[in-house]
Amino acid sequence: MTRTVLVTGATGTVGSALRDELADRDAVVRAATRTPPGDGPADEWVAFDFAKPETWGAALEGADALFLLRPPDLSRVRQVREFVDAATRVGVEHCAVLSVLGAERNPLLPHRRIERHIESSGLSYTHLRPSFFTQNLLEVHGDALTRGEIAVPAGDGETSFVDARDVGAVAATVLTEPGHEDTAYDLTGPEALTYDEVAAIASEVLGRSIEYTRPSLPRFVVGQVRRDRPPAFALVMSGIYTTARLGLAGRVTDDVARVLGREPRSVRTFFEDYAPEFRGEMR
Ligand SMILES: NC(=O)c1ccc[n+]([C@@H]2O[C@H](COP(=O)([O-])OP(=O)(O)OC[C@H]3O[C@@H](n4cnc5c(N)ncnc54)[C@H](OP(=O)(O)O)[C@@H]3O)[C@@H](O)[C@H]2O)c1
Repeated sequence: MTRTVLVTGATGTVGSALRDELADRDAVVRAATRTPPGDGPADEWVAFDFAKPETWGAALEGADALFLLRPPDLSRVRQVREFVDAATRVGVEHCAVLSVLGAERNPLLPHRRIERHIESSGLSYTHLRPSFFTQNLLEVHGDALTRGEIAVPAGDGETSFVDARDVGAVAATVLTEPGHEDTAYDLTGPEALTYDEVAAIASEVLGRSIEYTRPSLPRFVVGQVRRDRPPAFALVMSGIYTTARLGLAGRVTDDVARVLGREPRSVRTFFEDYAPEFRGEMR
């Protein structure tokens, strides 16, 4: 039976990849955004805002499965939980929530609070817990890379970068195929790399010198604020890179391969696929 899948965060990094993946599957894709219509594949675009419960009914009507994203704004946890309750009430069957690697060890983390709420909601669920998206190298640090540097305070720590396209592919699988109920997947790439290794791969693939400048934490924060990034964003990024610096971001799992039946994309593949963007060309 064709399933209607409501995709929250449909314009975001993972939501876009998920829509691409669902386009080839037997599913009606209802893409949610605060400012419809969005671009790219979707059967329907719907106006949706976690902060506006009046938008929830139309988004949820007839939906069988839900891809749930926690928006970057932390104050939305309560609304996300209330939205889960609404989804349960109208008969959504399965929810895949975009969480974060290690969420199960941190009960105060918003992602874990949402996971726990889903577990007690009566919905069947799949928690998707990705490591650091490789796409951050383009979306967050693309300008620096274009200047020939990677400037993050991660020291010599390793990160098990996961390609957001693989996260989207796993989400599409668990939302449209049985066998993934009431479970959690730790989604990583095939290897853990230091930023020196990432810079070496980027240099080789893009054909120019890219250096890992290993700034200190204070220098990184000042650099981000000078580039007009909000201080809260700089602090969140500092926390993430500190985790890497402490050697806590390098765990590699085989969950992507187990779900997709193929190896996850590597950092090298990422740079090969996105080389035109890094060169300032459109793909
Ligand atoms: N970046 C990483 O390395 C990483 C790793 C692991 C986990 N995560 C988690 O992944 C999530 C972010 O996913 P992403 O990177 O795919 O998203 P993203 O690219 O940051 O996009 C954010 C999405 O949230 C939507 N949104 C924002 N405010 C909203 C609201 N009030 N109501 C409804 N939708 C709203 C936006 O939609 P519109 O603007 O179109 O409305 C947009 O589609 C976060 O929970 C993050 O913690 C990230």
